[in-house]
Amino acid sequence: QAKTHFSAELLKWYDVHKRDLPWRRSRNPYYIWISEVMLQQTRVETVIPYFHRFVEQFPTVEALADAPEEQVLKAWEGLGYYSRARNLQAAVREVKESYGGRVPDAKEEISSLKGVGPYTAGAVLSIAYNKPEPAVDGNVMRVLSRYFLLHDDIAKPSTRIGIEKLAVELIPEGRAGDFNQALMELGATVCTPKSPHCLTCPVMEMCAGRLEGVADELPVKTKA
Ligand code: ADE
Repeated sequence: QAKTHFSAELLKWYDVHKRDLPWRRSRNPYYIWISEVMLQQTRVETVIPYFHRFVEQFPTVEALADAPEEQVLKAWEGLGYYSRARNLQAAVREVKESYGGRVPDAKEEISSLKGVGPYTAGAVLSIAYNKPEPAVDGNVMRVLSRYFLLHDDIAKPSTRIGIEKLAVELIPEGRAGDFNQALMELGATVCTPKSPHCLTCPVMEMCAGRLEGVADELPVKTKA
């Protein structure tokens, strides 16, 4: 009941409120992948111009694979965390060599690529290929910890795994990519770390964290 309500209301909200972001205009797995790597440690507004320039300069897996590393690092300049760019290019070279340039749609294959952890794998598989895979980052753990009143420490791997299991159960039939992005969007714009905007939240009615008055104290996180 709470789960069905959550998924249905969240998707309805997303359909109306989703931001028009450049990577949302495409289902190209290579573009989705780039966007997710850029968004991992960098805010949306910063990423947008970099994303445009990057896909213009390296429009395909082949183009990025064949580019000199220094050119890729140059395009990344200002985004920081340059290992992301190095790993991305190494992974794209692997896609060119081993998968004929097609970003794999199988979880074990995509997860074997350099820099592609469970979050990135789930994001690409769900958004580009609409596979019912979870894409659980810090935003998503916060949203689900609050709604379902989970007090487990999100710094623990076992907590993340439990939340991934829950997140899979919540995915509405045929809408994995939209649902995962809706979760991220809610975490980024409404269910924020400090003073969440519960009054504008599409799932406030059944949010256990809000009903118990502890939404702003969740999630529990031990280490910094
Ligand atoms: N943060 C991580 N992935 C995102 C996405 N696809 N859209 C918006 N923000 C994000």
